[in-house]
Amino acid sequence: PPAKKVKIDQSYKLVGERVKVSGWIHRLRSNKKVVFIVLRDGKGYLQCVLSGNLALAQQTVDLTIESTVTLYGSIVKVPEGKAAPGGVELVVDYYEVVGLAPSGDEAFTNKVAEGADPSLLLDQRHLTLRGETLSAVMKVRHAFLAAIRRVYREEGLTEVTTPCMVQTQVEGGSTLFKLDYYGEEAYLTQSSQLYLETCLPALGDVYCVQESFRAEKSHTRRHLSEYTHIEAELAFLSFDELLDHLETLVINSIKYVLEDPVAGPLVKQLNPDFVAPKGPFMRLEYKDAIKWLVEHDIKNEEGEPFKFGDDIAEAAERKMTDTIGVPIFLTKFPVEIKSFYMKRCTDDPRVTESVDLLMPTVGEITGGSMRIETTDELLAGFKREGIDPSAYYWFIDQRKYGTCPHGGYGIGTERILAWLCNRFTVRECSLYPRFSGRCKP
Ligand code: 4AD
Ligand code: MG
Repeated sequence: PPAKKVKIDQSYKLVGERVKVSGWIHRLRSNKKVVFIVLRDGKGYLQCVLSGNLALAQQTVDLTIESTVTLYGSIVKVPEGKAAPGGVELVVDYYEVVGLAPSGDEAFTNKVAEGADPSLLLDQRHLTLRGETLSAVMKVRHAFLAAIRRVYREEGLTEVTTPCMVQTQVEGGSTLFKLDYYGEEAYLTQSSQLYLETCLPALGDVYCVQESFRAEKSHTRRHLSEYTHIEAELAFLSFDELLDHLETLVINSIKYVLEDPVAGPLVKQLNPDFVAPKGPFMRLEYKDAIKWLVEHDIKNEEGEPFKFGDDIAEAAERKMTDTIGVPIFLTKFPVEIKSFYMKRCTDDPRVTESVDLLMPTVGEITGGSMRIETTDELLAGFKREGIDPSAYYWFIDQRKYGTCPHGGYGIGTERILAWLCNRFTVRECSLYPRFSGRCKP
């Protein structure tokens, strides 16, 4: 009978039918009479059996791991108690070799990835991507980005695409990547926030999914030089409304990922203990976090007890988040440790209407704030940070031509994925991670 051309995930439903599937040999095992192949096509894994003459023929071409083949045969249900992806097996009656891989190169696929030299594995990222774990994280990533866009549509935000090449900084000069822009100095963007702010009067609430770049010299579990930044900006709302919106976004996007027929089971596999976050999130003011750190005898960067005004760096932040064990909105940071654009609290001008969302195991996954609304205050912010405001004329104009209360935030895609997929570093959540010393493949 003629074979129906299908992807592997479709083949699971076709018990009794003759199909044609193409893919890569993920696993290979044979004895004198039978060859077992686990075929992979990026959509699924299919157990395939070649026996009799086919098995003998196989020995003559010497199939190898990562070779591409097209297999023809019937889909049969596997007997009770025998595990196979999709509960089926392909009984092969004919096959074609599309591309033969050299033998002995299994080293870079999943099985051996554990324990191998991380730097060597990163050199071979184009091959290690084929492994079960990395490809699973990438599938969850796909579902998460789709889920985020779905929530934004439900919440009425418009997606825009912001420039990557800019002449302004957002989060401090020390992490800027400079580039020669036809003889002028320019940078790779650190954040699209300022551009999103300019969209409010034109488009209303907006968001973008854009690469951000940070020249972070130190190697940590959660810093990349290039990361996918999900940023949103909303007008005519209060700080509490901003927090409510962010909470809805996180809860609903994770819910949609878990409901996804592909990504949901992958999250379970990668992170069996994952508990979907529930609202309302704990809201903890910076000044109370400082008290908490002192009470728990956690020290600041100088090894001293924490005091008001200290930056809560990665290690202390993670200790706090892991101890508390639930998502935390850490709010109202002092002016001095935050960026030039953040609005001060009316009841306490030492602190800002700012928020970091902290998750157990990762810490900060989101940073956001309400923004300064008046030109004078903004100019004072530039002065405090030692920034020449002239390049920001267009940003300052926002305050001149119809200012409004507004705020927004940025989510680190790789960080939220590290939390969701229980990965030790954000590097495992990026297709081709960039950090100091690594710009290939
Ligand atoms: O806290 P950040 O620096 O805030 C901003 O950029 C704001 N302008 C965003 C806004 O309000 N529109 O960065 C936001 C988030 C962080 O919480 C973190 O999750 C992620 O971006 N992030 C990084 N992720 C990976 N590698 C890095 N080097 C990162 N730096 C920030
Ligand atoms: Mg931050």
